[in-house]
Amino acid sequence: MNKIAQIFQSLDYGPAPEGPDQANAWLDSHGRKFGHFIDGKWTKPGKTFASDNPATSQKLADITDGTAEDVDKAVKAASTAFKSWSALSGYERGKYLYAIARAIQKQSRLFAVLETMDNGKPIRESRDVDIPLVARHFYHHAGWATHLSREFPDAVPYGVCGQIIPWNFPLLMLAWKIAPALAAGNTVVLKPAEFTSLTALLFAEICERTGLPKGVVNIVTGEGDTGAAIVNHPDIDKIAFTGSTEVGKIIRQATAGSGKGLSLELGGKSPYIVFEDADIDSAIEGLVDAIWFNQGQVCCAGSRLLVQESIEERFIAKLKKRMSTLRVGDPLDKSVDIGALVAPIQVERIKDLMQRGTKEGAIIYEPDGDLPNGTCFLKPVLVTNVSPANTLVAEEIFGPVLVAMSFRTPEEAVALANNTKYGLAATIWSENINLALDIAPKIKAGVVWINGTNNFDAAVGFGGYKESGFGREGGREGMGAYLKPAWEKGLKTAPVVKSSPHGEAGASATLEPRGRGTNPLDTPHLDQTAKMYIGGKQARPDSGYSRPVLDPSGKLVGEVGDGNRKDIRNAVEAARIALSWSTSAAHTRAQILYFLAENLDYRRDEFAARLKAQTGEDGAEEVALSVERLFAFAGWADKYDGAVHNPPLRAVAAAMVEPLGVLGIVAPQSRPLLGAIALLAPALAMGNTTVLVPSERSPLSVTDLYQVLETSDVPSGVVNIVTGDSVTLAKTLAEHDGIDALWFAGSAEASAMVEKASITNLKQTWTTRGLAYDLADRRFEGDYFLGKATQVKNVWIPYGA
Ligand code: NAI
Ligand code: MG
Repeated sequence: MNKIAQIFQSLDYGPAPEGPDQANAWLDSHGRKFGHFIDGKWTKPGKTFASDNPATSQKLADITDGTAEDVDKAVKAASTAFKSWSALSGYERGKYLYAIARAIQKQSRLFAVLETMDNGKPIRESRDVDIPLVARHFYHHAGWATHLSREFPDAVPYGVCGQIIPWNFPLLMLAWKIAPALAAGNTVVLKPAEFTSLTALLFAEICERTGLPKGVVNIVTGEGDTGAAIVNHPDIDKIAFTGSTEVGKIIRQATAGSGKGLSLELGGKSPYIVFEDADIDSAIEGLVDAIWFNQGQVCCAGSRLLVQESIEERFIAKLKKRMSTLRVGDPLDKSVDIGALVAPIQVERIKDLMQRGTKEGAIIYEPDGDLPNGTCFLKPVLVTNVSPANTLVAEEIFGPVLVAMSFRTPEEAVALANNTKYGLAATIWSENINLALDIAPKIKAGVVWINGTNNFDAAVGFGGYKESGFGREGGREGMGAYLKPAWEKGLKTAPVVKSSPHGEAGASATLEPRGRGTNPLDTPHLDQTAKMYIGGKQARPDSGYSRPVLDPSGKLVGEVGDGNRKDIRNAVEAARIALSWSTSAAHTRAQILYFLAENLDYRRDEFAARLKAQTGEDGAEEVALSVERLFAFAGWADKYDGAVHNPPLRAVAAAMVEPLGVLGIVAPQSRPLLGAIALLAPALAMGNTTVLVPSERSPLSVTDLYQVLETSDVPSGVVNIVTGDSVTLAKTLAEHDGIDALWFAGSAEASAMVEKASITNLKQTWTTRGLAYDLADRRFEGDYFLGKATQVKNVWIPYGA
């Protein structure tokens, strides 16, 4: 048989290797040994570790393991550079970003080959996905830099940003971090992952070549210790991290109380939902991309297949057939689908997890055929016969392993999809647009793809809900993550307000039922112990204790219940049940807030007198401000909304503004009514339900509110009020998994405690850190709290026949 006839017989692919010569020449030109890139110069290599090619197990180069001193030098260089870099006009900074984008495009082949050699990903992906997106990111942010002062008028950059990135998309994660940071006027110290430092080092050369001022970008290589040195450096103003949830939690703890900005992009276990009316062939191709793109080492990988029972058998059969045609092999071969995993340790991790899953009953399917030689190759894997509790369903595997489950109804699909601690992404396949758009808002994830998967663009924010982290990368939200309000710098330390004038110990008194007339507290204003308010009902404290409320002279003006863990638990439960508030029409929420304002205003004299009794100050102004604040956020309820992005694909991305869920609010001690309303109003306007802890010192104006809430049609459970010791209750809220976010007004020390304790489910926190936020200021009537009360979900919707 001649060769052509032979090829027709087997229909096999011939080899289509991409040449490594240029990448090797570049490595040789550096003697295959690298120092750091600090202050525009290369340091001498120090103690080094190897960076290997996982496909061949051969060493590519020696990389310096950065020490705390190296990090310190880099931070100093970045601090010095910050002064002049942040003073440049946005246009000037934009030109540098544009030059970087151009330079990357000109060297795109070298970048792609080097990335594939260092990481093991197929050249098809580094060439067609990673590197083009890197260039796109710098172009996009060149534009943001130019328009920054108009679009973010009262914002300033943080200063020096510490950026720590993973190994799955080495250069792309660098671009996601560096482009917005520089556009905003920050300078950076970036640490690539230890397995994949090479393209970051090649990028440093681009910085040199484009004449980027020295010290603006510093690259320090190293392992976890080097990352920790960045996180803990006192002169770093913001940390941006992408990587495992485990390390994300360590970083949240390490930065607690430091005032450093923080964004975390962490793990995922994203559902891939296929309804019976889906275009099945497209859904199969999408699934190949969702789980076998980059060997499954993707934070947003569609690793949990949820397929409707009626088509399950057919779908799985087709999927197995498609799996048998996937080509695992040399990543530099242009017609290979699945390359090498990043390192032997990752392969071991995945095999361990599969063993555990099998022991728990999972059935593993792998297509026939041989694997190429080498320790880092794995076949595509399909796992069936699993329940939600199986390790393989619950844990992020970060490898080419798909777990499949089925569902019967859309409701069940949503329940299964949300049955995870993560919330990064989700995919929905259905030809029924009504169904798909009904499901998308119900899924707790930062990105939802409809009839497509793994779409990314610089103009569209990316990031997670729940333990997938917080903050967004890309788009307007991503720019916002590198900026802070200019006025924050001017905040003074708040005068220490003793949270309860009667001191800490001995504050509680036994709560005895007292007959009217025999009780000295039975004056017209002080007829009884104010109750807590939970699930639309007045509630007595679980402890059976009450706390006295005193005026500034120490005279008793009333009593409130001494709330504890159990009361918080009840309140959280009520708030979760009330979450349909999130999906009520914004117009409805606006009307209720207007009504609340009106009813509070109607009783202004009574509230003013109550404030005066507790604080000794004239309460009339505080009540008027509180009414005005409710009015302001009623006005916002139907206006603070999303955008429709136009990525360079035949798709739109709808950036939907969603509430966080159940918000814990620990109100400030002074201005007890306004302080609570200033935080409550934006939370409610945006559709959150709340557990509110009023001022510990002067709680009666908030406990009085329950009557106003009831007459204003606020649904039961939307506002729950628990009185008691602010710091103790804050800790309980911070540790509670049913609380999605927590706002805390109080001392620096207690704020640090709140941030530390929040790692259980990685809730978003806002704390005053002992600073004097004047919540009466009009600046708090707008997007400051609206932004903090919401998160953006991007829903990708393709169009065209
Ligand atoms: P990792 O989270 O340890 O590494 C990510 C980056 O953090 C690296 O640059 C690393 O050097 C750095 N780092 C490690 N410990 C640190 C610390 N204490 N302080 C500061 N920086 C630190 O992830 P690893 O060990 O490479 O992979 C383990 C697993 O994590 C994977 O199998 C996967 O499940 C998950 N992972 C998830 C990623 C995602 O994007 N969702 C990315 C990478 C890993
Ligand atoms: Mg490597």
